[in-house]
Amino acid sequence: MKTLMIRGNAFHTPTLGNVEVLQDYLFLINEDGVLTDVVSPTNDNYDEFYETHRNHADYIHLKDSQFLLPGFIDTHVHAPQWPQAGKALHVDLPTWLNTYTFPLENSYQDEAFAQTVYADLIDTLLANGTTTSLYFGSIHLEPNRILAQLCADKGQRAFIGNVVMDDISQSPDFYRNSSPEQAVATTESFLSFTQHLSKTTPQGIYGVVTPRFIPTCSDEVLADLGKLASTYDAPIQSHCSEGDWEHAYVQERTGKRDTQALYDFGLLTNKTVMAHCVFLNDEDALLFKQSGASIAHCPVSNVLFANAIAPIRHRLEQGVNVGLATDISGGYSPSMFDAMRQAILSSRTLEDGVHHTLAPEKRGCPNSRFDFRHALYMATVGGATALSLQTGLFKPGYSFDALLIDTQAPDSNLRTYDFDTPEDILQKTIFLGQRTNIVSTWVQGRSVYKRKNN
Ligand code: GUN
Ligand code: FE
Repeated sequence: MKTLMIRGNAFHTPTLGNVEVLQDYLFLINEDGVLTDVVSPTNDNYDEFYETHRNHADYIHLKDSQFLLPGFIDTHVHAPQWPQAGKALHVDLPTWLNTYTFPLENSYQDEAFAQTVYADLIDTLLANGTTTSLYFGSIHLEPNRILAQLCADKGQRAFIGNVVMDDISQSPDFYRNSSPEQAVATTESFLSFTQHLSKTTPQGIYGVVTPRFIPTCSDEVLADLGKLASTYDAPIQSHCSEGDWEHAYVQERTGKRDTQALYDFGLLTNKTVMAHCVFLNDEDALLFKQSGASIAHCPVSNVLFANAIAPIRHRLEQGVNVGLATDISGGYSPSMFDAMRQAILSSRTLEDGVHHTLAPEKRGCPNSRFDFRHALYMATVGGATALSLQTGLFKPGYSFDALLIDTQAPDSNLRTYDFDTPEDILQKTIFLGQRTNIVSTWVQGRSVYKRKNN
């Protein structure tokens, strides 16, 4: 790969709630896909830097309607559920799992099906600007290998879990690990496979220890997976405090709140990402903070399956790291724009109301709201922090995972006017942005997607 130089505007969120606008900067990316220089036009060497690199590097000068955003990091995607995105959203979680989801996940033993669906999913996510995904696969090894190989080939950075579910009472006969030992051995084989794959994949493909959630896992497998993660220093993912049913079930079975149970099994570490976390209390959140575990906020599926909103602003203020997620297919959309929008709208729904004399009762929680700046932070920096990645910002030393956004894309809903400030344009993009506004996607400096009608 040649070096790449891009000249133009960019936005990123160095701290929670703050956007930095980089206007007419030069971005130089080396052969390894790492940003080496981020040069401001106020820098005395700007012209010289431009002249030096202009003829050696691949060069892109962005149009006035274009800017860079950091690539989106989706911290919770169920890859095998992609064919049912947008359906079966009218039922509760246990019905959804047993009637729709487990049979679908089981069908990936058909390797041709796995190949076709996973290729389409990765293409779709890259076109929607998701440069890194934290995936749940299924319980079978081979389809997960296919997913990992496709991510490697298509250039997406991926963290992938071989799903574990061995508990007889909540996992169906047709879709269950045959024993705790078999589940741990499969996880270990997959971790070894991804370790080898990662050596030849510049962007990184990582195996993740993935107990589905406590109800479908035996105590024995949960304890063994905790030990395995420690031995391999591997990332961990699961579902936590997702809904009333799951929360109550875990309390009844273990006599503990589910956060405490996960912690006691060794499954809450600084490499852990727990989806949902809707019903954490402040003590649970403290365990997250102390262990360095992150929350994958799934605002769309929380509405559909928990009938609830996670108080994310409060968790952030407690010092817990939060990434954002689509939760395909509990969430219906592959787009992190949709996840950002729902995160903002949900947070506003949680905010206390403007009280009217005819409705004086207290409702909502003060300081729950957040805005487009927080949403972009969670979709980029929050996800990078959760996965211990040096990306999500345009800074020297960071991997160049980026999107070229064009506000004047064909059939775009976005409109901008001369009186819009740069922050207005970013806010409009977060609220009105679509796949068509993403012209190009880079992962680790490599072009992994180009919109067709450029
Ligand atoms: N809890 C256990 N499995 C799942 C799943 O596949 N999706 C969601 N949203 N919640 C779960
Ligand atoms: Fe999930």
